Amino acid sequence: MKKIASPQVPFINLPAQHRKLQAHILAALERTLAGAHFILGPETQALEKEIAGLCGARFGLGLNSGTDALLLSLRALEVGPGDEVIVPDFTFMATASAVMLAGATPVLADVDPVTYTLSPAAVKKCLTRRTRAIVPVHLYGQAADMTRLLALARTHRLAVVEDACQALGATWQGKPVGALGDAGCLSFFPTKNLGGIGDGGMVVTNRPELAARVKRLRNHGSEEKYRHLELGYNSRLDEVQSAVLRVKLPQLKRWNQQRRNLAGLYARALDASKLVLPAVRAGAGHVYHQYAVQTDLRDALAVHLKSRGVETAVHYPLALHQQPIFARLPSARRLFPVAEKLARRVLCLPITPETSPGQARRVAREINAFFDHKPSK
Ligand SMILES: Cc1ncc(COP(=O)(O)O)c(C=O)c1O
Repeated sequence: MKKIASPQVPFINLPAQHRKLQAHILAALERTLAGAHFILGPETQALEKEIAGLCGARFGLGLNSGTDALLLSLRALEVGPGDEVIVPDFTFMATASAVMLAGATPVLADVDPVTYTLSPAAVKKCLTRRTRAIVPVHLYGQAADMTRLLALARTHRLAVVEDACQALGATWQGKPVGALGDAGCLSFFPTKNLGGIGDGGMVVTNRPELAARVKRLRNHGSEEKYRHLELGYNSRLDEVQSAVLRVKLPQLKRWNQQRRNLAGLYARALDASKLVLPAVRAGAGHVYHQYAVQTDLRDALAVHLKSRGVETAVHYPLALHQQPIFARLPSARRLFPVAEKLARRVLCLPITPETSPGQARRVAREINAFFDHKPSK
């Protein structure tokens, strides 16, 4: 059988991450197996405290995904039919689908051309009497402009649900993201900066009544066994995920620093006259879940890199208003020049704690070589 060569610079390399922690992960799994408390057990309770602490929040509620963290936060805030929720047009689809799952209407707003996060100016244009909440996304690991978005929310009495699924450990004006608004949503999808070995998510909040409501919603709307107060979900972070996440959590700070170091290396090594490099907003402590560059030659560059053993990815090839599922939203008829340009041009380069500086230098060399043979941007 023909052996398929693995790329010299993979986009993600979870086996390498797990190999280093294998003994600890296996010990945690054995402990979980022996304890046999598989749902909302001691590992989950401990993880909830640890993650809440990291986010500067009083409460953490482990759920089965980041998508459910968004959905349950919105439901806990009583967002539902007839309500509008403003979300960025350039994000993973779950930011908007969670709004629809809650029965409300997502209103798509364009993003900032420099940092790619929700534009406060665009949000202003979307406000109506029905607007109930804003969902800023800390895209690629960089905080949205929370000062201006929180001020807007205060003025118009709107809830703020942070989509921090890509940004655990990121900061805004020195404060961790997640607890800056009413609720913060985290994802532990395996490829996230802190990823499990399956799906997982969490809501963090400082508001006790929201925490209590999310706790009820994740457990079939129940506070005591076999008494159900409202329509809820089965959405609990399982103990196996919590145990593995707790092995990885002490590494997160170092891993995020390694991502920042690689971003610095790319910034120094890549030719900024040939492609647009990521910009960091003043006040944002970036954790580089992704390192996205922009070029009109995106597709050709990706093909070139693949032929040289470098894996890349496009997050995201379509803006939300271009997705069939969202195209019928009334707000999808607006113009989204920034989101459309990004969808055409962004290319994400390998930037994980497992990417070595040598590999990143090689990626940069291949990119520079590609442009040396092309006339311009
Ligand atoms: C910005 C954003 N929002 C929401 C989600 C949904 O998280 P999950 O995949 O855990 O449901 C993700 C992760 O894929 C994400 O990147």
